[in-house]
Amino acid sequence: MKKIAIFASGNGTNFEAIADNIDKGILDAKIELLVVDQKKAKVIEKGLSRNIETLVLRPKDFESKAEYEKTILKRLKEKDVEWIILAGYMRIVSNVLLDAYENHIINIHPSLLPDFRGLDAIGQAYAAHSPRMGVSIHYVDSGLDTGRVIAQEGFDVNPEWSKDECEMKIHQIEHVLYTNTLKKLWENE
Ligand code: GAR
Repeated sequence: MKKIAIFASGNGTNFEAIADNIDKGILDAKIELLVVDQKKAKVIEKGLSRNIETLVLRPKDFESKAEYEKTILKRLKEKDVEWIILAGYMRIVSNVLLDAYENHIINIHPSLLPDFRGLDAIGQAYAAHSPRMGVSIHYVDSGLDTGRVIAQEGFDVNPEWSKDECEMKIHQIEHVLYTNTLKKLWENE
């Protein structure tokens, strides 16, 4: 069983999907810690209601990003966390965590990378009238959505779809693809 931490900043639907799949026995993992960098994020309630230890820390309350990450790292080590799973964590990970978790930090991004990196990838693709959209799961490095891609799933965009419809489709894919990708990754270890 893999000991994981999930990092999130917002609604936490991907956190919920992973937690549900663990509860159903689909994914052999335990969420040791939920790390949230926004005090008002909806994901906090979702973590607490599942009795998952939830650490809410704002980087701006620390002297530097390194100090913020060192505080997180200490908790991760106390809990023997092996993998960091970013699920809507809207922040670049820096060296403190990257060095401690080399090739053990995974992210989900709502575009077919390398297209539409960074914030509001769905909005970027929609504004560009991209004929295809999708989801990527990738290793995290020091860049913005630049790490090696592990899995992708795309779909043809119906030009009549609204941005909300595209977003709904992307979330549907995310909630299945993240679990399936982690499952395969860990089975092959
Ligand atoms: C997801 O669509 C995820 O791919 C995206 O944030 C959303 C979080 O939703 N992540 C990024 O854009 C990272 N660059 P959620 O909070 O409901 O899981």
